[in-house]
Amino acid sequence: MENFDFGMVGLGVMGRNLLLNMADHGFSVAGLDLDAEKAASLENEANEKHTIKGTTDTKEFVQLIKKPRAIMLLVPAGKPVDSVINSLLPHLEEGDIVVDGGNSFFEDTNRRVETLNAKGINYFGMGISGGEKGARFGPSMMPGGNENAYERLRPIFEAVAAKVDGEPCVTYLGSGSTGNYVKMVHNGIEYAIMQLIAETYDVLKRGFQFNDNELQEVFESWNQSELHSYLIEITADILKKEDDLTGKRLVSLISDTAKSKGTGKWTSQNAMDIQAPVPSIDLAVTMRDISKYKEERVTASKLYPWSDASNTDKASIVATFKDAFYFTMVTIYAQGMAQLTIASAEFDYGLNLEEVAKIWRGGCIIRAKVLEDFRKAYKANTALPNLLLDSNIASTLNTQQKAVREVVKTGIDKGIPMAVFSATLAYFDAYRSETLPTNLIQAQRDYFGAHKYERIDKEGIFHTEW
Ligand code: 6PG
Repeated sequence: MENFDFGMVGLGVMGRNLLLNMADHGFSVAGLDLDAEKAASLENEANEKHTIKGTTDTKEFVQLIKKPRAIMLLVPAGKPVDSVINSLLPHLEEGDIVVDGGNSFFEDTNRRVETLNAKGINYFGMGISGGEKGARFGPSMMPGGNENAYERLRPIFEAVAAKVDGEPCVTYLGSGSTGNYVKMVHNGIEYAIMQLIAETYDVLKRGFQFNDNELQEVFESWNQSELHSYLIEITADILKKEDDLTGKRLVSLISDTAKSKGTGKWTSQNAMDIQAPVPSIDLAVTMRDISKYKEERVTASKLYPWSDASNTDKASIVATFKDAFYFTMVTIYAQGMAQLTIASAEFDYGLNLEEVAKIWRGGCIIRAKVLEDFRKAYKANTALPNLLLDSNIASTLNTQQKAVREVVKTGIDKGIPMAVFSATLAYFDAYRSETLPTNLIQAQRDYFGAHKYERIDKEGIFHTEW
């Protein structure tokens, strides 16, 4: 009794895999699941070097863990988290630590932190990225909570996290809901990059008639370049996969109606609340929503036919798209990371963006070679408000501006939606505009609502009888 290093509630694939990962690193671990089969299967998966115990009894489970206890929940976000917390509470003691490892909404985490802290229990919200494989062999982990209590968790988390150049992809990020907020924005960026890849695939396929092999080769070769990233790597793999039944590429047989669990939407919603502009993420969420209106899209496709057969040689199209892709990808990260900076000030997170870039370099879904450049940019200037203001990043993006403009024009000419490409370019053009036409908007507000305006030539607030 009371000698296990770590406990996990929820022995679905993620929970089980993370526990096995901990056991691989020599930690003794206990798992709790009300489903007896899941509790038993944990022990069945263990090898002779592992110290693992699975149980369905909450009281027994809690007593197994070394004090102060470290217990993680890997259960679906929302009500299940609250009900697990309630079932654990009668058995916990002051100083114990509860870590929610799911994609919980950050405001729920704030509420839970308050309730549990009042009882002397340290509550952590920790985003975990990398899916099932990541959990088993090295995820990226984004913990937020009490800094002193983190010391109890640190050796375990550092051992199991993905490593890049020997550095673990986990670090203490800040108090309260910091970890969940960072993971939420991670997912917003994930949505936008996935949509960017999908738009590239669409234009090359529908607009320029690339065949399956050509499409696959594009992503495979990009993954060997400065675009090296997990999402491009898996896209190349996906495009290769043949359907067992028909021999066709499996992807071409998958329905084009996307699902989502909500983290992308939360990113956009909160970005609006704190006035952090992230149009690329907004449009990625919107495109998933438009995909759901399949029947209406089919009808509209007949009402508004459009075709454009213009063509150029494939090699030059790929080269232009590659530059445009890099440009857009960087500008997506720039928006998400700027949102983190704004949120950090708004919610007092005290976030260090260099650390965020560091732990996103490996293990997570948005891991990419370019994260190392972001880390350097934030290291060089810890107060950098936006990656677009880093001079090294600017000199690369300047060589690619022309390409992204050409690519967006291509989409417009061909009538193929390039929502994320174009929204990102609009964001970029707005951000690099010394003057914007918002003076006119201010005048209009004053005209119809007497909302007043400021002038550029003198101090004060003015109203005009227009
Ligand atoms: C990760 C993923 C993970 C999950 C997303 C999917 O970082 O490992 O982001 O958290 O796969 O929640 O999100 P949607 O269902 O909203 O696409």
